[in-house]
Amino acid sequence: MSDAGVAHVRLASAADLDALVGIEETFPAEDRFPKRTWKRLLSGNTLAHVAVLDGTVVGTAVLLFRRGSRVARLYTLSVAPELRGKGIARQLLAAGEAAATQKGCEHMRLEARESNQHAILLYERSGYRVIARVSGYYPNGETAVRMEKPLGNSESSSR
Ligand SMILES: CC(C)(COP(=O)(O)OP(=O)(O)OC[C@H]1O[C@@H](n2cnc3c(N)ncnc32)[C@H](O)[C@@H]1OP(=O)(O)O)[C@@H](O)C(=O)NCCC(=O)NCCS
Repeated sequence: MSDAGVAHVRLASAADLDALVGIEETFPAEDRFPKRTWKRLLSGNTLAHVAVLDGTVVGTAVLLFRRGSRVARLYTLSVAPELRGKGIARQLLAAGEAAATQKGCEHMRLEARESNQHAILLYERSGYRVIARVSGYYPNGETAVRMEKPLGNSESSSR
């Protein structure tokens, strides 16, 4: 996996469950996954990476895949608040994109809160473009920005 960066990025395992719940402890309640959701995300048709720094899990990116679809979905991306701004999310995103490409996916897709300008900037700088705005997407009624990036298997990728 990737060592070129602040953190070491590796695939997540069931042993990371408590650490993943812990990262979200300071997040607003509506942006946290219950432990049972994390359990589900660490199994099934998902692919989760974690960023590890000095032996501690400090971030994660989780991808979902649908049978018969060449679109991977970035379901969640998060970094511990005290370690943000060091390029860890970018590392996680790159690892997820590489894994999705290896699985034959042509595009990565995601939704972000319209108000989450840091995340939207990160995605734009990483090659994602807005393909739709979905009003009322979030439980509090907030609009989602849907973004997409062509991966290496896509004809529209700029290889
Ligand atoms: C969004 C999030 C994952 C970014 O993690 P991070 O490790 O701090 O991001 P990085 O250090 O890799 O930053 C990469 C880019 O993101 C943008 N960015 C991230 N944090 C930023 C900040 N505080 N201010 C401005 N831009 C920021 C910048 O474009 C940055 O690129 P640059 O270094 O060339 O300026 C993190 O803030 C987080 O966990 N937020 C809460 C969960 C969340 O909102 N996830 C996204 C859901 S769609």
